[in-house]
Amino acid sequence: MSLLLTNIGELVTNDGAPGDKAFAAIPDAALVIEAGRVAWTGPASRAPAADQRTDCGGRAVLPGFVDSHAHLVFAGERSAEFAARMAGTAYHAGGIATTVAATRAASDEQLRANLAALRREMLGQGITTFECKSGYGLTVADERRSVALAAEVTPEVTFLGAHVVPPEFAADRDGYLRLVCGPMLAACAAQARWVDVFCERGAFGADEARAVLTSGRAAGLVPRVHAGQLGTGPGVQLAVELAAASADHCTFLTGADVDALAGGGTVATLLPGVEFSTRNPYPDARRLLDAGATVALATDCNPGSCFTSSMPLAVALAVREMRMTTEEAVWAATAGGAGALRRDDIGCLRPGARADLVLLDAPSHVYLAYRPGVPLVAAVWLAGELAAGRGMGTVPSPPG
Ligand code: NIG
Ligand code: FE
Repeated sequence: MSLLLTNIGELVTNDGAPGDKAFAAIPDAALVIEAGRVAWTGPASRAPAADQRTDCGGRAVLPGFVDSHAHLVFAGERSAEFAARMAGTAYHAGGIATTVAATRAASDEQLRANLAALRREMLGQGITTFECKSGYGLTVADERRSVALAAEVTPEVTFLGAHVVPPEFAADRDGYLRLVCGPMLAACAAQARWVDVFCERGAFGADEARAVLTSGRAAGLVPRVHAGQLGTGPGVQLAVELAAASADHCTFLTGADVDALAGGGTVATLLPGVEFSTRNPYPDARRLLDAGATVALATDCNPGSCFTSSMPLAVALAVREMRMTTEEAVWAATAGGAGALRRDDIGCLRPGARADLVLLDAPSHVYLAYRPGVPLVAAVWLAGELAAGRGMGTVPSPPG
């Protein structure tokens, strides 16, 4: 069964010249979906016949957002910490321990229900692929169940046993690192694709992070790194040196960090929701882009530093606060995220790509930043199936 989406005011394909890593779009477009994949894109006037037809009413269609950084397996909430922060208390990594205690105390069912609710929330805002980290368990059993729960909802599972040193190991950091690099990794590796470390003051230093990432790599996982969130540090250089898929946050960078990101294969993933929610300065996206680095945008949805699952918010902040163009921001939230997850089947709408699509209640992608805070996502397709949406009239195509 094929489906023609037609009368698309702007179709964002990210499928320009071969090898071109940039936003691309077709005005007055159509798109055909077949067997869960994009089968054809082009001007509506030249659309081929299909079994069914949906009129998009001149609205914009984009690749589904790819959220390459989220912490969704947790229990409890930290609104009091947020309120205190807004009243002047600085963000620090120590708040993570509050969520660790609540997560350890929660049942599998509570964690699963919380995860399902966040997943629905993300889908409703156009996120069709998301990465999900462990990191609020921090015992072998709690990290194992965190990655197992994450694996129920996404293939992009990250082992983050090295989030912080949990309180019971406060006097024995080396003991905790041995646990992370040994039994905990062994318990988690089979269900995870990625290994991450919070390389930051208050969390893990360079040698510790290197030990975690190289152990993870030896177990078949691909590194990604939390780096430069609270200050400059060794995380970005380490990420590039170890060919990590992504260095995330990049809020505080040295010139050498920018050069390393521009010259290496590691994506710089920016998480402006964190700066919005912690009142820290925003990352210098222009400096990265102008140097030639590949930039992704992600939500960093987590109960502490940034409790939003909204990619439209990330796009609006990137444009308004980080001086990214609307095209750069939308590319970063789609194809950029796909790059940070080393995926070429998502983040773009070229023939053969997964038919993960977002229909906006707006004529162009610009409205994501032009109308901040307005729920613009009208419908979402996952592998060609309508997964969220309102008022889509799909009708059989007329014969002939
Ligand atoms: O990405 N940086 C480490 N992890 C999260 C914060 C988690 C928390 O505060 O609970 C982050 O900001
Ligand atoms: Fe994070």
